[in-house]
Amino acid sequence: MSHHLLQGKKGIIFGALDERSMAWKAAQRVVEEGASITLTNAPIALRMGKINELAKECNAEVIPADATSLSDLEDLFSKSMEKLGGKLDFILHSIGMSPNLRKNVPYTATNYDNFQKTLDISALSFHKVLQTAMKLDALNEWASVIGLSYIAAQRTFPGYNDMAEAKALLESIARSFGYHYGNKRKVRVNTVSQSPTVTTAGSGVSGFDAFFHYADKMSPLGNANADDCANFCVVLFSDLTRMVTMQNLYHDGGFSSMGVSQAIVEDMSGR
Ligand SMILES: NC(=O)c1ccc[n+]([C@@H]2O[C@H](COP(=O)([O-])OP(=O)(O)OC[C@H]3O[C@@H](n4cnc5c(N)ncnc54)[C@H](O)[C@@H]3O)[C@@H](O)[C@H]2O)c1
Repeated sequence: MSHHLLQGKKGIIFGALDERSMAWKAAQRVVEEGASITLTNAPIALRMGKINELAKECNAEVIPADATSLSDLEDLFSKSMEKLGGKLDFILHSIGMSPNLRKNVPYTATNYDNFQKTLDISALSFHKVLQTAMKLDALNEWASVIGLSYIAAQRTFPGYNDMAEAKALLESIARSFGYHYGNKRKVRVNTVSQSPTVTTAGSGVSGFDAFFHYADKMSPLGNANADDCANFCVVLFSDLTRMVTMQNLYHDGGFSSMGVSQAIVEDMSGR
């Protein structure tokens, strides 16, 4: 159901790979709320994914960009402003990839070239997106920028590997850039720390099934899914959250405040 919360707003959605992607659901919801968007992903993902189906449904242009490339990002912002007819009001950065995780390289025997790629793709790209937007003065005042994070930035989840460091950096960039962009253009920058969610990136984490179910049993509301995340993004892109910036916002059914739940106690007692 639409509440027209984003009527007339324009934005870029990064990272829709397939219908399970957080960005896929977010694109559908922001358009439903009245926004017009461009969609982007890495050129290789565009070849493998099904983004054109989404583009058709959302009446959106697809503009390829490797989020680690400043020249690709400049091209993306310029073309997005041209297609959408002016400056932008929101950006969703929904990008994550760890070559170490993908290749099962243990954290304690990390490959540092891979580690740097993890940080570049999953965290520095957020800085590059913000820096490019600022350089091209591509955002309207009170625009809202979101990066998607995970609680492994604060607590240890061994299977999450070097993505934990990437998320800690991502959240720090939201605070630091949020200060500068807030001062300069009243732009809001936040991260949303989402529950484990069944997606291509999520399922690539070793032991994902176990910690998905563990988090679900630990959280009084259960895990937040990708549809819930899309709804939260709509609210954060809307004018109803104008004064929220430089925050890491937990969107996790209560998981981040839990010590232990009765359901987990009962599970363990049965052993
Ligand atoms: N799935 C989960 O459990 C979970 C939980 C919390 C946070 N997140 C975060 O949500 C975000 C989206 O992930 P998802 O779960 O929807 O999985 P996903 O695999 O659908 O999305 C990840 C996206 O990153 C894109 N990407 C990778 N390298 C890129 C590059 N160089 N340039 C541009 N795009 C690139 C991929 O093509 C893909 O579309 C990620 O930041 C992820 O860490 C996921």
